[in-house]
Amino acid sequence: MINTKVNIAGVEFKNPVMTASGTFGSGREYSEFVDINKLGAVVVKGVAAKPWAGNDSPRIAEVYGGMLNSVGLQNPGVDYFIKEDIPFLRQFDTKIIVNVCGHTIEEYVDVVKALNGRDIDMIELNISCPNVAEGGMAFGTEPSMVERVVSEVKKYADRPLIVKLSPNVTDITLIAKAAENGGADALSLINTITGMKIDIYKRKPVLANKIGGMSGPAVKPIAVRMVYQVHKAVGLPIIGMGGISNGEDAIEFIMAGAAGVSVGTANFSNPFAAMEVIDGIESYMRKYSVSDISEIKGIIG
Ligand SMILES: Cc1cc2nc3c(=O)[nH]c(=O)nc-3n(C[C@H](O)[C@H](O)[C@H](O)COP(=O)(O)O)c2cc1C
Repeated sequence: MINTKVNIAGVEFKNPVMTASGTFGSGREYSEFVDINKLGAVVVKGVAAKPWAGNDSPRIAEVYGGMLNSVGLQNPGVDYFIKEDIPFLRQFDTKIIVNVCGHTIEEYVDVVKALNGRDIDMIELNISCPNVAEGGMAFGTEPSMVERVVSEVKKYADRPLIVKLSPNVTDITLIAKAAENGGADALSLINTITGMKIDIYKRKPVLANKIGGMSGPAVKPIAVRMVYQVHKAVGLPIIGMGGISNGEDAIEFIMAGAAGVSVGTANFSNPFAAMEVIDGIESYMRKYSVSDISEIKGIIG
């Protein structure tokens, strides 16, 4: 018997594997292919106080080792989410984590207030999106601002609060500490790394927004390094992500200190990726006689 259960900020997950925000919608399209009941959690696409249109197209580009996106947090708003997506997701035996975005602190607070009393398990505060002009990453790259937005939102949240960190900083541990000081219950990292691709024949950027966020296998070593550093620096549970596409990738993050792991870009090329990560973790545990996943968590000194 192996035990893959994990507890993150008081919430019990059947396994550490989640879907990364923005790469799995709210699970509808994927539910035709995969058994959502198997997932530790579904982390939904960013939800704002009011519907957001997102950025102009093209907003996706393939690059070596991953992709660039500048979707800009397009979403139908929190009222739609409450009416349509919560009942859909509650059909499944999995946890629901709601990724929250905003242009201002007030907008973040409005979403969190609207979610209070609703049937969800955790909130993930996205202060790290590189694709919105105001809010998003602007909140997540300056420690005093991080502490302010987190402590404001924490006052209203009636569910454990995960703060999602931006890798677009010089020292990720300063941001992690600021989130901890603000009252975060857990941290997730990394969001995308800013990047750019130029079409040399058209002599212009491929993305309409010019700059986007890089994700996929090529960012994994950066993400593992940041999870490792944050695990050493703060006591909060960490959900690690960035380029995970199989069980071995996930084990790396867990050994670096992650309590949970999210599968993002890999979902686009392989809708079964999250399932394969779950199976891969289990086969690693069996093969190397790890009876409880906690035995390998954070073992890298
Ligand atoms: C198309 C796309 C949309 C995304 N949307 C969101 C979002 O709404 N909120 C958020 O916090 N992160 C968002 N992300 C970031 C991912 O959740 C994840 O942090 C990042 O892509 C790194 O993981 P990966 O390499 O496995 O994709 C998005 C990523 C992609 C590729």
